[in-house]
Amino acid sequence: MRLGAEWTRSIRPAQDRSAIAILDQTLLPWRVVWIRLAGLEDTAEAIAAMRVRGAPLIGAVGAFGLALALREDASDEALEAAATRLIATRPTAVNLAWAVARVAEAVRNRPRGDRFDAAWAEASAIADEDAACCEAIGRHGLPLIAGIAERKGGDPVNILTHCNAGWLATVDWGTATAPIYRAHDAGIPVHVWVDETRPRNQGAALTAFELGGHGVPHTVVADNAGGHLMRRGEVDLVLVGTDRVARNGDVANKIGTYLKALAAADTGVPFWVALPFSTIDWSLASGELIPIEERSEAEVTEIAGLAEDGAVRRVRVVSPGSRAANPAFDVTPARLVTGLITERGRCAASEAGLLSLYPEKA
Ligand code: MRU
Repeated sequence: MRLGAEWTRSIRPAQDRSAIAILDQTLLPWRVVWIRLAGLEDTAEAIAAMRVRGAPLIGAVGAFGLALALREDASDEALEAAATRLIATRPTAVNLAWAVARVAEAVRNRPRGDRFDAAWAEASAIADEDAACCEAIGRHGLPLIAGIAERKGGDPVNILTHCNAGWLATVDWGTATAPIYRAHDAGIPVHVWVDETRPRNQGAALTAFELGGHGVPHTVVADNAGGHLMRRGEVDLVLVGTDRVARNGDVANKIGTYLKALAAADTGVPFWVALPFSTIDWSLASGELIPIEERSEAEVTEIAGLAEDGAVRRVRVVSPGSRAANPAFDVTPARLVTGLITERGRCAASEAGLLSLYPEKA
């Protein structure tokens, strides 16, 4: 991923394995600050406060968090307590529970003295695999954009995305953004409509920051603009990430995704979802069973931004005394999803489609 002049990943493990460094995403795009997570408490706080966010990234960070917890205390009790604590920080993105369980599984039957080494190695493998998956998602998604570009005869391909499913949400490349970066790097003209993504504005703050840094033409729109743009023929493709895909192809993603899928279905715009295997929850028959995270009212009643004096401030935008509700995700039924892009290729959003790519799950 490109951050200013340098190429880096969104997690930097310390050489001496005493900590990891992550970009504090609550400060972006105003301040680029790497912070150090040196143990269970730091890691759990960073995930819960969304200093790191995005399904694959919280998975990889959670995996390192469990390793760091074992560095402090490698007992059976500490292992189970740390795993439970980390998994509880964010309930919808299955990558977190999956990654923490994978590290726990890798160390459970080992002597205490070996557990930290094994956990750190497993967390590193998870991070490397995520980067490789996203790179592959880019390869498998590219033909979709290239095909539209060919039909448009050189006019830019207009892609609408929601929230941030970019490198800031993964270890590298992103999921939904990986094909976009590939297309742009290959000289295919693309333009991205970036949903601002209230309440936390991950689109306006993070996706716009990423795309701008990579030189990808983009325009931020209010969340409510997507349907209008689609009706006017100004969107060729909707491309989003996901936090959990159920066995039947139903897709949980940032709140508001479902409305974009409805508008896309009504206007005939293809609606694709990009994900690595770690986002598939084979244990859930349908999206109705996906737990939806409820976050604080303050995320809706207030908004953060850069004030004229250069300070980052929160201001209240809701009438005093009014209550707010904040469901953080919604579920888009598989019937509204044109297809899924994974590290193994593209498939229909259905159990048969998923099994065609992952036959070992039959
Ligand atoms: O609440 P967030 O910011 O963690 O939500 C992130 C999303 O909804 C992303 O679209 C999803 O995690 C996919 S990330 C590649």
